[in-house]
Amino acid sequence: MYYADDIVEQVRSSVDIVDVIGSYVRLKRKGNSYFGLCPFHNEKTGSFSVSGQKQMYYCFGCGAGGNVFTFLMEYENASFPEALKMLADRAGIRLPEENHSAQERRRADERNTLLEIEKEAAKYYYAYLRSPKGAQAMQYLTNRGLSAETMRNFGLGASGKSGGLYAYLKQKSYTDQQLEAAGLVVYDEKRGPHDRFWNRVMFPIMNQSGKVIGFGGRVMGDAKPKYLNSPESPIFDKSRNLYGLHIARSSRAGYFLLCEGYMDVISMHQAGFSNAVASLGTSLTQGHASLLKRYTSEVLLLYDSDTAGVKAALRAIPILQEAGLAAKVVDLTPYKDPDELVKAIGPEGLQQRIDTAEDSFLFEIRTMQKKYDMQTPAQATAYYKEVANKLLGFPTALERKTYTQAAAQMLQISYRELAGFVTGTGIAQGGEPKVRRAPSAEDAKKTEDKGKRKAQRLMLTWLSEDPKRFRVIRKYLRYEDFSEGLYRDVAEALFAQLEKGAVSPAAITSRYQEEADLRELARIFNTQLQAAPSEEKKAEVISELIYKIRAFALDDMKAHLDPADMAQMQKFIQGKQELEKIRNLHISPDEWES
Ligand code: CTP
Ligand code: MN
Repeated sequence: MYYADDIVEQVRSSVDIVDVIGSYVRLKRKGNSYFGLCPFHNEKTGSFSVSGQKQMYYCFGCGAGGNVFTFLMEYENASFPEALKMLADRAGIRLPEENHSAQERRRADERNTLLEIEKEAAKYYYAYLRSPKGAQAMQYLTNRGLSAETMRNFGLGASGKSGGLYAYLKQKSYTDQQLEAAGLVVYDEKRGPHDRFWNRVMFPIMNQSGKVIGFGGRVMGDAKPKYLNSPESPIFDKSRNLYGLHIARSSRAGYFLLCEGYMDVISMHQAGFSNAVASLGTSLTQGHASLLKRYTSEVLLLYDSDTAGVKAALRAIPILQEAGLAAKVVDLTPYKDPDELVKAIGPEGLQQRIDTAEDSFLFEIRTMQKKYDMQTPAQATAYYKEVANKLLGFPTALERKTYTQAAAQMLQISYRELAGFVTGTGIAQGGEPKVRRAPSAEDAKKTEDKGKRKAQRLMLTWLSEDPKRFRVIRKYLRYEDFSEGLYRDVAEALFAQLEKGAVSPAAITSRYQEEADLRELARIFNTQLQAAPSEEKKAEVISELIYKIRAFALDDMKAHLDPADMAQMQKFIQGKQELEKIRNLHISPDEWES
């Protein structure tokens, strides 16, 4: 059911977020905001803030944030329409009648049937494992160190040598077509319909609500394929589900452990790390990352220690960061994977590895170094240049400085020397060095995109919190300078509010109902620098951000420039001239305080 923007905004503006959240969390006033213990992660300090002015909440500890709707969605595990209904009831507003189309209803019915089938299958495999015929599978799992309790928690089962699932489900009167759609039955000319899984240990895959949506099946020996998985179906989307999440979501650790395999997750949970999850035999996707972002703000990668695992970690890091998650990498060597590690050195050993996990940026540049022969000056120079290029991806001078310091320390060169590469005044100039692999244009583009959006978020957050400075900012920035799509739409709406002198980020969020959008909005209005600048430094940081945002906007324009379009060309040239004028923009104290 899709509700019109105006009714959503009507409901939202009829309730006060401080009252609503106050009925769940004890809040205390501190300055302009209210603070309390975050209900979304375990903490003692009260990093959870609710702003009456913004009508939004944000946790500085775990990054949970949003408006009154997302609060109920997360806290009550409600869907958007459910949250809307709760608040409408509270405010005494009558919502328009739900009106499901026949097609929507059919689709819901189909999904429910598939869920029933998966559940029946899980029950069947579960019982099989615990029957005399399941003895071999039981032995296999026991040999791998799993307790009966762990096997129960994860609903482990087994499929038999003469697949009996098909007959079992037929007797429950499901059709062949339904069983095929569920991915449990395959059809071929010779054998007709028969079980997909045969003589394997069965791992039911649950969605975040704990409903079975598919299976992974492991052979008990060395046969191939080692794991056979259910195909995707209307209820099983591999890129949007994580193994173990239905348990990990209620862990209060404050961070998640992301591994590669089913057995890794199970072993870690058994060892007491109930915050472990794995992507399902696929590499990490944006869907996974935004799912994680709902529950945490930090992810520790525990990918296999082999080359493939390192490569997968390098691929995963930008995806996590893009979703606004801080990433760290846990060193598993000399063990192959978390399952092996925890068996060898126990929970204390693993905890110690977790405590010393490496910042993902440092992991990336340390791994990059392996491609270079650091004994050769030309290659060493090329390496430092690549590091400098990555450092430039940080959107503010402050962050660049922090990370340049950390990188210099790790690489054991002086801060000044490394900073020289960042600003392009590196000592070893002249003659392009030969490198085995130069940083690809694609890498550079990615870091730039990240920095671009962060600069825009910093500006939007800051404007929403300090609206009186808009008088200065509007001389240098227009909403068109923000990236097309969500960012520009938000900037347009916020600038309009600022012009009128009535700022309400939450009113802007009411135009959106998609969870992904709402989450991104929470980020847009809650992005802070890693180190907060002093009052005097603020004008400087803001000047830098203005220049950045304008420069990025011009780059975008350039990328889509049509040389035959004179009007456009003129606009571009004018933009370039204007940009030149603000290259070293220093908003003066007078102007700033005006
Ligand atoms: N995987 C898969 N299909 C395969 C091999 C692997 O889907 N043929 C997925 C599974 O989700 C598996 C994960 O990739 O859990 C990691 O694979 P791998 O490291 O090979 O397996 P392990 O987790 O180490 O499994 P085990 O300990 O049982 O050998
Ligand atoms: Mn393993």
